[in-house]
Amino acid sequence: MPQPPVFDVLGVGFGPSNLALAIAVTEHNATARAEDVVTAHFLERQPRFGWHRGMLLEDATMQVSFLKDLVTLRNPNSSFTFLSYLHEQGRLVDFINHKNLFPLRVEFHDYFEWAAGRVDDLVSYDHDVVDVRPVTEAGETTHFDVVSRTSTGEVEVRRTRDLVLATGLRPALPDGVHASERVWHNRDFLHRVESLTDPRRLVVVGAGQSGAEVTAFLHERFPAAEVCAVFARYGYSPADDSPFANRIFDPAAVDDYFAAPEPVKRKLLDYHANTNYAVVDNDLIAELYRRVYREKVLGRQRLRLLNLSRVAELEDRADGVVVTVESLATGLREVLDADAIVYATGYREADPTALLGRLAARCARDARGRLDVGRDYRLVTDDDLSAGLYLQGGTEHTHGISSSLLSNTSVRVGEILRSVLARRASAVPPRPRYAVGASRIG
Ligand code: FDA
Repeated sequence: MPQPPVFDVLGVGFGPSNLALAIAVTEHNATARAEDVVTAHFLERQPRFGWHRGMLLEDATMQVSFLKDLVTLRNPNSSFTFLSYLHEQGRLVDFINHKNLFPLRVEFHDYFEWAAGRVDDLVSYDHDVVDVRPVTEAGETTHFDVVSRTSTGEVEVRRTRDLVLATGLRPALPDGVHASERVWHNRDFLHRVESLTDPRRLVVVGAGQSGAEVTAFLHERFPAAEVCAVFARYGYSPADDSPFANRIFDPAAVDDYFAAPEPVKRKLLDYHANTNYAVVDNDLIAELYRRVYREKVLGRQRLRLLNLSRVAELEDRADGVVVTVESLATGLREVLDADAIVYATGYREADPTALLGRLAARCARDARGRLDVGRDYRLVTDDDLSAGLYLQGGTEHTHGISSSLLSNTSVRVGEILRSVLARRASAVPPRPRYAVGASRIG
């Protein structure tokens, strides 16, 4: 078998996290001495760049300031800032007049695509990473062989000294619920909604930002349909984006969280869960309330909020779904015939070691079975593993609430790159030689 090409850094997944890392590497290499250049490549299973495309609702806005883009907090002079993007699009002055920190989600997606296009040479799309194998010499694992598969079945192998896993979160459906033609997780919302023609009734489960957005969207898109929002809360609750609470997303908060003892970490997550989890932007809450009240006045209630309730039973039929909604207060049940049900029930962290095969057993875990992660986002492993495994995401238990968000991404990739460079500088063996491309084994 031919020797696979060797990189300093390979990234799995090319969402905003590894895109930001690709930019950090590009900017580092632009001024680095030849011997300090970092060779990097990224593998992404999607056929092209895409950030939660199924939820790119036309009027949805970002929940983070545009200043927390891919680079600004790490390098405000970067040419990859959102402001540089706006300037290039000829919209900078219009954006300034808008007096708004929170761009449209479609606009931020366009910004991400623009940035991804500028580092296109560092990415292979349509590459699903299916395996990571240790490369061991004299008892020491110095590299990983990363195996990816394309949609046409081609298998490629690349070798790397350091691996950065940024594979994102997995959509969470309640136990026993399976996605189908008429049962959707909101991740697929826009791809699915096109299949609806003249729906009579639609059900949305969940009272977080996505649930509220989907409810508002369906209510507006289908003026003849009844839209039932089902959730356990009494009402939609506002996201706390007040300035002091917002500090929980600061780079310094990562240091505080990382250093804190476990009970304090838990408290911090509890205190500030309402900055991110199961909460909705105030403007959207007001808009939904306005619609409910207007319909009350007009005498036709088409937007129904079934609060303090849960879906007790779901029957998935060829021509629709039958949803039994149970009141948590009284136990009374209502059966709803609907065209489709959308679960906006969030995401869960996936165990990144699922990709690592037998390497997984070499990663240290805490008493609760969670991965042990260093401050530099490197997994703690046995001493014979000198190659580095880094995580972007999946570190809420060690680094805090911003782990799965954009807020701290630009700073985090700077920290990871620093760690990669520092370990390389202190490594005893000389660096391997590099080749471009990948070896094919199938
Ligand atoms: P992300 O999930 O974006 O990317 C992971 C990538 O890895 C995907 O492209 C996937 O295809 C790829 N992948 C996975 N497994 C692979 C494999 N085995 N091989 C190859 N590729 C693989 N946060 C915030 O701070 N502000 C906001 O406004 C929002 N808004 C928002 C809206 C919506 C609708 C959602 C669902 C989420 C947000 N978020 C958010 C949170 C969101 O998680 C965050 O913005 C980023 O998507 C995190 O970026 P990552 O690159 O880490 O993961």
